Amino acid sequence: MSRLLVVGSLNMDMVVSVPAIPKVGETLLGRNLQKHPGGKGANQAYAAASLGGNVSMIGAVGKDEHGVTLLDSLKSAGVDVSGVKQVDCNTGLAIIYVDNNSQNCIVVLQGANNYVDEEYIDELESYIKDTEWIILQMEIPQKTVEYVIRKGAELNKKILLNPAPAPESFPEELYKMIDIITPNEVELESLTGLPAKTREQIIEVAKVLNKKGVKQVIVTCGDKGAILVNGENAVHFPAPEVKAVDTTAAGDTFTAAVAVALSEGKTINEAIVFANCSASISVTRPGAQSSIPSRREVEEMFGDMSRKKLDA
Ligand code: RIB
Repeated sequence: MSRLLVVGSLNMDMVVSVPAIPKVGETLLGRNLQKHPGGKGANQAYAAASLGGNVSMIGAVGKDEHGVTLLDSLKSAGVDVSGVKQVDCNTGLAIIYVDNNSQNCIVVLQGANNYVDEEYIDELESYIKDTEWIILQMEIPQKTVEYVIRKGAELNKKILLNPAPAPESFPEELYKMIDIITPNEVELESLTGLPAKTREQIIEVAKVLNKKGVKQVIVTCGDKGAILVNGENAVHFPAPEVKAVDTTAAGDTFTAAVAVALSEGKTINEAIVFANCSASISVTRPGAQSSIPSRREVEEMFGDMSRKKLDA
């Protein structure tokens, strides 16, 4: 199994249950407030380790209670956190509303995540040299994400970008350095400026990213599963049917599971089946890292993915 490196954010999630996502100007009564370890980067590192990957993380937390909780959570999953520094600043914080339909909306205060800069990446260059896959999201400074993509490509590393939250603009020349991108439908629209509402539109728009140079585009479509587009091929992988209570971190679990499966030498199709199964369990439980399944749970529920051969 090859190594995985996550470069990204760590946030403490403040989750408010609401009857519906508030409209502009509306005041709502929330039901309760819960705190969970989260952050897209940390969730992906946690998920990758829980699902059996060999994972290190580069990131930053504050020298506060939240920072300690987040580091402890990652360590409990088996993530190497020696690349997560503690800085004089508040740990990243996410305010999350979850509604009665288990949908959410999230506002992130980046805090310490802003300290993951190019200099810090240079200091930890050995982490990049030692890995096969680099997994990135967009909750640390965008300049750093772009720097890591360039550096990773120079060092012949494989790059998996989860473009969340979607950047306002993205340098065109970087697309050809990305092996896999995992946007949801909204992020796909933001990245390309094109509508991606129907399955046909999603496939057409994903092909635009392929033409810009991304090798594999995997669009996550919530309870409808995921669509893989590479070149002229497009394959839809339906998700298992489950009763969702909270979709927070489902995309993170999906992205991490794809990386883990590929690090074990599985095909991209096998990786997406495994990712759909893993993410479908995560939505049945509340919270971010608290919802992420272990490898054993995924295998108990869906059979041994490592023996599945699905070349659709
Ligand atoms: O993807 C879910 C994550 O997004 C949450 O854990 C929150 O911290 C935000 O970063």
